Amino acid sequence: MSFNNNKQHGLDPALIPRHVAIIMDGNGRWAKKRALNRIRGHEKGLEAVRAIVRVCRELKILVLTLYAFSTENWQRPAAEIAGLMRLLKKFLVQERAELVESNIRLSVIGQPDRLPDNVQKALRQTMDATAQNDGSILNLALSYGGRTEIVEMVRSVAGKVAHGKIRTQDINEALVESHLYTKGIPELDLLIRTSGEMRISNFLLWQLAYAEIFVTPTLWPDFSADEFIDILKQFQLRDRRFGKVLP
Ligand code: FPP
Repeated sequence: MSFNNNKQHGLDPALIPRHVAIIMDGNGRWAKKRALNRIRGHEKGLEAVRAIVRVCRELKILVLTLYAFSTENWQRPAAEIAGLMRLLKKFLVQERAELVESNIRLSVIGQPDRLPDNVQKALRQTMDATAQNDGSILNLALSYGGRTEIVEMVRSVAGKVAHGKIRTQDINEALVESHLYTKGIPELDLLIRTSGEMRISNFLLWQLAYAEIFVTPTLWPDFSADEFIDILKQFQLRDRRFGKVLP
C-alpha cells in the first residue's frame, strides 16, 4: 500500500502521528467471557499485535510502542508469566523475517535483562537482524515501568553530576530525555488503551506530557486495523495546542 492510500482511508498524510503507543489491555477478560484459559486471550492478543504492526507500516507511522509486559506483571501467576514469555519468544522468532523484509527495526524499553535467557536471546537476535532497518521502529516495552525509568534516569544523571561530567545547572528537559529509555525516539503523539480502563498504569509517564489519549472499550484481542484507522481519524480532528492558544 502506498502513502497515497492514506487518503483512501480518509486520513490526511500530513497529520499521521509519528509515534503511537498502545496499552493492550483486556486479554484476560476476552478469555474469561469465553470460559477459556487466560493464555488463550494472550494468544489471540498476539494476532492483534501482528495486524496493528502491519497497518502501522502501511500508514508509515514511524514508531509503534507496545506495552507487552510491565514491571507489575511479574506478580502474575507463574504459569501466566511462562505463557506470556513463550508467546513473546514465538513472536520474536516468527516475525523476524517479516520485520527485516518490512524495514522495521525492533527496539526495546524497560529491563530486558530480567527476561528469561531464551527470550533475551531471541530478542537480541531479532534486534541484531533488524538493526540496519531505517523505515520504522517497533518498540516493545518489556518489564517496563514508568517510575523505574525515571528512577534510572535520575541515578544516571546524578552519577554524572557526582563525577563532574555535567553541572546541576545543565540539567534541562533535553538532558532528562536523553537519559530515558526512549532517547532518540520521536515525541509520543498518541496513546491508545483498550478495554475501557481510564488509567495510565505506569506507562511512559514522562513521554505522555502532550500525547493525545484515546480509550476504547474494545478488548485487545478484538482490536482491529479498522478500529485503529478510526482512532487515527479522530486523532486528526483533535486540536493539539501544546498548552498554547492557537491563532
Ligand atoms: C493485558 O491484558 C495484556 C498483557 C499483560 C500482555 C499483553 C501481551 C500480548 C498482547 C501478547 C504478546 C505480545 C507481544 C508483543 C509478543 P490482561 O491480561 O491484563 O487482561 P485483563 O485486564 O482482561 O485481565
